[in-house]
Amino acid sequence: MRGTASALFRATFGVAPRAAASAPGRVNLIGEHTDYNGGPVLPVALAARTTVAVGPAEAGVLEVVSTRDGRLERVDYKEGRPAGWGAYVAGVMRELLAAGAAPPGGGARVALASDLPAGAGLGSSAALTVASAKALSLLARAALAPRQIAGVAFRAERDHVGVRCGIMDQMIAALAQPQHALFLECGSIATRQIPLRGRWLLVDTGARHHLADGALNRRRVECEAAVARLQLELPELAWLASWPASWLPRLKRALPEPLRSRALHVVGETARTRFGAQLLARGHLTRFGTLLFESHESCRRLYECSAPELDLVVAAARRGGALGARLTGAGWGGAVLVLLGKEEEGRGKNEARVVREIRRAFAAAYGREPSITVVKPAGGVRRESVR
Ligand code: GLA
Repeated sequence: MRGTASALFRATFGVAPRAAASAPGRVNLIGEHTDYNGGPVLPVALAARTTVAVGPAEAGVLEVVSTRDGRLERVDYKEGRPAGWGAYVAGVMRELLAAGAAPPGGGARVALASDLPAGAGLGSSAALTVASAKALSLLARAALAPRQIAGVAFRAERDHVGVRCGIMDQMIAALAQPQHALFLECGSIATRQIPLRGRWLLVDTGARHHLADGALNRRRVECEAAVARLQLELPELAWLASWPASWLPRLKRALPEPLRSRALHVVGETARTRFGAQLLARGHLTRFGTLLFESHESCRRLYECSAPELDLVVAAARRGGALGARLTGAGWGGAVLVLLGKEEEGRGKNEARVVREIRRAFAAAYGREPSITVVKPAGGVRRESVR
């Protein structure tokens, strides 16, 4: 799939691209809906990537084509708010212009290929914006550091597409190292690479969400309302995630529902994620797995961002003997991450039991099979050859 962005570029525009870059999707091990609340996250980059090949165009003209539909689109990125995935590339162009790192004349031809499903909670939009930002900055001969690429991609999605996401997806797509999880404190943007241990499965339920439709934005509004009320108790409070975990009774008194539940999730998830990062670093996978189950329960009950398909897979994984499982990404559909147990009874036994139980339960409820893959932690954004 990776070579096809260049092939598509040639087929569409009749010339070779000048530069290409790719960026990975991600799974988040723990720390859901904490990033935009100034809390920690612990994502891992996936082997599945989005590749973007680019070349020059007339000044001010942005032409985009994707293997998804093969249609060539001329995107008005200066005036309008384009629809579809072209909006993401348009946002990247505007941000690169603002940063003085856009191709000459602000024109480009862009071809895109991806082996990441969209709307599955796997960070496909950040893979697209990060890969685009890298490829277009290469075309401009601008040397942007990975954190700057992440910033361009983040602002493109938040300010131009209008999804009020946090910084997690763009940071992991830009900074990931193979075989590592990225511990990221989103309040300070401090990072630490932690070797990924254990064997992990990704179960894509096939249930899809559309974040721009508003569920994520609604939660953000609720979190902001919670901060505003909590600031009456603690004026210094900058982020919801900074509320002291030892002050939960006060938080409960100060907030009405549903703000109380949302805040309890964020404060609890923040503590779980920091503890989880330590457990992972020390290889305490059994206790880490327990945190994953707790995190899912908190997402389901308090943040109300789960879906029946996700709950069913988590329950089946638990019955099958997994150490932990939880929804990953925004939720409301998408994928479940499963931490497998040790193979005490011989290699493959635990995995086989967990997979069998998930397939059986899912088929009984929905009459189809979810896609189950082994997580192979990959590296972040990189230049690709245009050949
Ligand atoms: C989406 C957003 C991320 C993050 C997750 C929830 O994936 O893009 O920034 O908020 O939801 O943890």
